[in-house]
Amino acid sequence: MHDDVMPAEFWDTLYSERDQYWTGEPNASLVREVSDLVPGRALDLGCGEGGDAIWLAGRGWRVTAVDISQVALERAARRAAETGVADLIDWELHDLGHDFPAGEFDLVTAAFLHSPTDLPRERILRRAAEAVAPGGTLLIVGHGAAHWQDEQGERHEHSGAGHADLALPTPGEVLRSLDLPDAQWKVLVSEEYEQIHTAQDGRQLHRTNNTLKLARIT
Ligand SMILES: C[S@@+](CC[C@H](N)C(=O)[O-])C[C@H]1O[C@@H](n2cnc3c(N)ncnc32)[C@H](O)[C@@H]1O
Repeated sequence: MHDDVMPAEFWDTLYSERDQYWTGEPNASLVREVSDLVPGRALDLGCGEGGDAIWLAGRGWRVTAVDISQVALERAARRAAETGVADLIDWELHDLGHDFPAGEFDLVTAAFLHSPTDLPRERILRRAAEAVAPGGTLLIVGHGAAHWQDEQGERHEHSGAGHADLALPTPGEVLRSLDLPDAQWKVLVSEEYEQIHTAQDGRQLHRTNNTLKLARIT
């Protein structure tokens, strides 16, 4: 953990180290879970360089995209302009641990809203649920545990790659922490899926990610 660093400073420094940090593509879970929805108002929490927000706007969503990093937001806004969707996205600088964008949304999405700095993720996600309009959707995509295998096929728990000491809950744990009234919400998807990628040290890392998709009924 980087408890000693201010979150905004941490993320601005990280984004400043490279011209582009993430792939620029929307997250696969977002594409999978949102493609069938009728576009309306969307809120993207921890939007980073804007891959998800730009994809949503390209499908007709009116997006409020929030991040703590001014560097990431400026980069995302430039890309949105190049892609021709600038008019559909409001980029807002917020430390979600302290304040939250106003309004009600047909889709609230939080994709990999994790941070090695102080981040009250559970509280933010509960607030995210409150921002979903009746009839709307809450989508939470996150990292779970990770492991790697040695040449003998033996499995080793992984820590590191920026995720050491982070709380990486299962979808069931995320759902419980939201503490939602059953009568008001329906669970549409609660699943884990494995993603394999090559870590900086060359090891094949098997990461369990998870998707939680909820419909607000009333
Ligand atoms: C792992 S990245 C994910 C970015 C993007 N959602 C994606 O999937 O590519 C986490 C993002 O959350 C943002 N973030 C971290 N702490 C935050 C906070 N307290 N308030 C708002 N955004 C925050 C970071 O700046 C970063 O862009």
